[in-house]
Amino acid sequence: MPQDEYLRRVKGVHALCIHPGVGHVDQEVLETAGPQLKVVGTMSVGYDHIDVAACKAKGVKVGNTPYVLSDSVAEHTICLALMVLRRVPFLMGSIVADTWKNNKGSAFASLGASLHGKTVGIIGLGGIGKAIAERLIAFKVNKVIYNSRTQKPDVAKLLGLEFATLDNLLSQCDLVITSCDLNESTKHILNREAFKKMKKSAIVVNISRGPIIEQHHLIEALQNGEIAGAGLDVMTPEPLPFDHPLTKMPNVVLTPHMGSATWETRMAMGDLTVKNIIAGLQDQPLPAPLC
Ligand code: DGY
Repeated sequence: MPQDEYLRRVKGVHALCIHPGVGHVDQEVLETAGPQLKVVGTMSVGYDHIDVAACKAKGVKVGNTPYVLSDSVAEHTICLALMVLRRVPFLMGSIVADTWKNNKGSAFASLGASLHGKTVGIIGLGGIGKAIAERLIAFKVNKVIYNSRTQKPDVAKLLGLEFATLDNLLSQCDLVITSCDLNESTKHILNREAFKKMKKSAIVVNISRGPIIEQHHLIEALQNGEIAGAGLDVMTPEPLPFDHPLTKMPNVVLTPHMGSATWETRMAMGDLTVKNIIAGLQDQPLPAPLC
């Protein structure tokens, strides 16, 4: 929706139901909406499209949808990792382009890399990071290391995860997964310096927000062979232009921000969003409050 249309529709509402990319809340939106606005429900766990502090200052409640999407996003993360490691788009392409026959008989053509036995790093151990770790363990990885703003000793003990500084995680891991919130401290956390610390054989999977990665530096690192591949569900900008350099890289798998996009999960997210909004309208505590 164009901004002027959005502002026109926002005026006078008591509740706003939004989704990243389809609605945002900043000072302008709050002022245009008016003092009767009581609650914002975002159908997402991420809330970088909402100025939560400004909402709080105006007494507007904000709710999001944590936990109900963790399993679906974790499934998609493993899917992206496997697609890059096992070169699924390239392999499917060899059938479509009829080049399979050229490799027939060779046991060493078109090989990928295993997930089992690998050391995996997760940056951000919230609900999604934890769900990813649970799945990695089932895939028999060597170990899972995590880095997050605060250590999570209970989850780490339960799942047998190790905490590491970011530098340590980057230098040890074969697969680096970003599942952290986007904020000032995580923006461009994977940049040129970070890629240089990683193994040349490492791959990166980003399922949180595009700006977690400094994308120009990622392209440079992929082109220079400083890392081996990337699986990205989020990128900058969204939608990514179809002719963007990332779309032409054989070692990159892209999906259009679909981590939580299953029927089951989107319905659960919708239900929780509605519950947040109804609670806000009735001056009750929100089931999943951000403020
Ligand atoms: C989330 O829940 O934050 C997802 O990225 C929504 O698309």
